[in-house]
Amino acid sequence: MEKKNRIDKLLANLGFGTRSEIKKIIKSGRVTVNGEMVKSPETKVGYEDDVVCDGVKAILKEHIYYLLNKPAGCVCAREDKLNETVFSYVDDTRKNLSPVGRLDKDTEGLLLITDDGELNHLLMSPAHHVKKTYEAVIDAPIEENAKELFKKGVDIGDDKPTSEAFLEIIENTNERCLVRLTIKEGRYHQVKRMFEAIGRKVFYLKRVKLANLDLDDTLKPGEYRELTETELEELKKCVNLS
Ligand code: URA
Repeated sequence: MEKKNRIDKLLANLGFGTRSEIKKIIKSGRVTVNGEMVKSPETKVGYEDDVVCDGVKAILKEHIYYLLNKPAGCVCAREDKLNETVFSYVDDTRKNLSPVGRLDKDTEGLLLITDDGELNHLLMSPAHHVKKTYEAVIDAPIEENAKELFKKGVDIGDDKPTSEAFLEIIENTNERCLVRLTIKEGRYHQVKRMFEAIGRKVFYLKRVKLANLDLDDTLKPGEYRELTETELEELKKCVNLS
């Protein structure tokens, strides 16, 4: 049976106001459920109900999952005094939205943003070895043996070397190299530090895949969309969540 919750609690969680503000809003007749005005903050509603507060439709799904093509220049934090954050690109006032993992300020690409703490935790947990694939432009050509080095693991200055990673050299020229690298960990600045370990510098970095979720090519940097049901199901399967 579908779970029903108090309307004042749901609207407060969605950021329509504090619980006491919402109570006043409801009592003054500014909220409708399935087209009917409700006046009791105790009214119970479920995810199928059509709730509108001050003319704005409330999305009552249990959780929300956004796929953002993160542009360079913003940070993966809820608030930041100096920098723009990824949340300035997502038009959603929900308070408990978090990015799944962090990308550096200058890194672009696939960033999942959700209020599903369990899925977030499982995707980031080292125990699940969730794959992350990056495209990178490197400052100089890369030798074939780098593939073997990255497969075995390299010393990036932590307690232990990196775990197995897969390097694909897409294009090597005299001045630079375009690569795809898949890692199964999420250490701080990991990709940049792995290339530093072999004497190279990352000029440009973009995440293109997380587990089996691909970056949507139709999303321009700064654009986002919700995950499809299939994408979400597949993602949950990767961490044995159904
Ligand atoms: N590795 C990095 O070095 N930076 C990122 O943003 C992600 C992975």
